[in-house]
Amino acid sequence: MTSNAPRNAWYPLTWSRNVTRSLARHRLLGGDLVAYRSEAGVPVALDDMCPHRLAPLSMGKLKGDAVECGYHGMTFAPNGRCVRIPGQSMIPANARVPSYPLHEKMGLVWIWPGDPDRADPSLIYDLPQYNDPGWHAAHGDALRIEANYLNLADNLCDPAHVSFVHLSTLGNAASEEIPVEHTFSDSGVLVWRWIKDALPIPLFAKYGNFRGNVDRWHYYDYAAPCSAVIDFGSADAHVIKNPEDRGQGLRIFACHFITPVDEHVCIDHWLHVRNFAIDDADVDQRLHADFRIAFNEDKEILERIEAMERARPNAKRIRIGIDAAPQRMRRIVERMAAGDAAAPAA
Ligand code: FES
Ligand SMILES: [Fe+2]
Repeated sequence: MTSNAPRNAWYPLTWSRNVTRSLARHRLLGGDLVAYRSEAGVPVALDDMCPHRLAPLSMGKLKGDAVECGYHGMTFAPNGRCVRIPGQSMIPANARVPSYPLHEKMGLVWIWPGDPDRADPSLIYDLPQYNDPGWHAAHGDALRIEANYLNLADNLCDPAHVSFVHLSTLGNAASEEIPVEHTFSDSGVLVWRWIKDALPIPLFAKYGNFRGNVDRWHYYDYAAPCSAVIDFGSADAHVIKNPEDRGQGLRIFACHFITPVDEHVCIDHWLHVRNFAIDDADVDQRLHADFRIAFNEDKEILERIEAMERARPNAKRIRIGIDAAPQRMRRIVERMAAGDAAAPAA
């Protein structure tokens, strides 16, 4: 696997619903994987390459819990060990393929491509509201973006773009001049701003029955390297006295879990969790229609930037105030990747 992404981290591989009793090929960090579900329902991911003649195992057959290569029938168990070589009883010790730790959470199968001994599922982003009966979670799409995953991560540490890119859904001009604030830790960045006493954004105007102006917020919670959860919402102006009481308003967590496919492609697995209309599946669809518009706006600009970066690799960029959080994000990821180099995967 080659990529600029750290290996010792959890990444979303795909939606849980895509991991079935059929072999399916996925790409992560520039490498190919075959994923399936065991008879007991446990997800499995192996390198998609037979160690004999390098045939993709995804072209083979699932036999019970094992994968039979489609070329000469070598068969591999979920732990990657070869358990059968047709025509011979001796199985060499090196007849195995890498098998990766997986964990299911929030409707996704997460994969740890690094040192298996460090694969602690408690490191996966945790959003307690996802399982809270007072909230409702709705899975969205897997949006393929022809851009390096860090350019998407930039976008997800950057509330300021919303005032310009998403005017029909998530933003309006009232926020243009409001600076963003941020804090950071060793593993992530939190970026936020409040827009006080302003017109509601189009998306919330549909659901809020607001009497007039609102106070609204964006908190972008980025956890390196691939999780970004945007807490945003609105309440009638001056109602929320303490920022920690945001649950009094209409509140949505827009979750983006990024799969770095390779250097130039990523997949944004997005879902949302909300505290209103929690029994109304119709609202899932209406909100997702808005999110699709907004996230495709991000996709379009990010793909254009990626193309420009490839066409003009030496182009200089200037830094402005809103870049503080994305820069911090990149330093955190670089440190994680340097940690991989210091302690190579087994
Ligand atoms: S290539 Fe897989 S068994 Fe020969
Ligand atoms: Fe955006």
